[in-house]
Amino acid sequence: MEYVKYEKKGFVGILTINREKALNALNSQVLTELEQTVDSISVEDTRCLIITGAGEKSFVAGADISEMSTLTKAEGKAFGEKGNTVFRKIEKLPIPVIAAVNGFALGGGCELSLSCDIRIASENAVFAQPETGLGITPGFGGTQRLARTIGIGKAKEMIYTCSKVKADEALSLGLVNAVYPSGQLMEECLKLAEKIARNAPIAVRAAKKAINDGMQVDIDSAIAIEAEQFGGCFETEDQKNAMTAFCEKRKPEPFVNK
Ligand code: CAA
Repeated sequence: MEYVKYEKKGFVGILTINREKALNALNSQVLTELEQTVDSISVEDTRCLIITGAGEKSFVAGADISEMSTLTKAEGKAFGEKGNTVFRKIEKLPIPVIAAVNGFALGGGCELSLSCDIRIASENAVFAQPETGLGITPGFGGTQRLARTIGIGKAKEMIYTCSKVKADEALSLGLVNAVYPSGQLMEECLKLAEKIARNAPIAVRAAKKAINDGMQVDIDSAIAIEAEQFGGCFETEDQKNAMTAFCEKRKPEPFVNK
């Protein structure tokens, strides 16, 4: 892989968009490598994924503007579909995904972070959807996920005005869960990922599925989805281990993902 780096720390996967010279902008090759890496992640040995960008300046500065500059309508649509396919795969990964937003998260970069479950930002992070200033709309899910995350009014304001949102404002909008100094960002994201990884993996995955699938449907269908996921956790080794330990007033054994 030229533009995507993947490493493991225990049960945590760390995926880095590694195109620092272009502030990690997403061209077709980056998207292809991102998709291949996401496809290769196994829930057998990975319990949480962190996505970040190389360097201290930028998470991802958007889709590649030079590549997009000469596209036809049909090619533009296909490029949008390519990005959307990859980002939907990230959103649907069974394990939780944390975006470690280390600087610019513009256009496709903001959209990439929105396809993750949780966004944690460095103090120098800047979010924006600058597309209407480039003569296009957000094209990798921004018109949909931004409104679902921060509400329709603020999302429309960000998209219509292209305004930049700094880390502290992103925190107050609920766009990010926490903000840390740059030097501490990865350490804090790893702490969070490891905290997630200590809980029963089958239950964490079931909770993600229940939340994500349930948010797309009416409340009656949503609680039926929850019941299905809740029921599916019973008779697992981890459920028996944890509940028996509680009843016996002791700590459970580490979870085994079975
Ligand atoms: N596409 C292609 N190249 C990009 C890029 C992008 N989105 N963002 C930055 N780069 C490149 C620059 O062209 C430059 O390359 P060269 O050194 O070869 O000239 C390099 O990265 C460094 O960038 P700057 O010199 O511009 O750095 P800066 O510190 O002066 O500015 C910035 C940083 C404010 C992020 C500025 O680069 C910028 O505005 N980038 C574009 C941001 C943007 O508009 N993103 C949205 C793209 S549209 C989109 O994403 C559509 C979608 O929804 C799918």
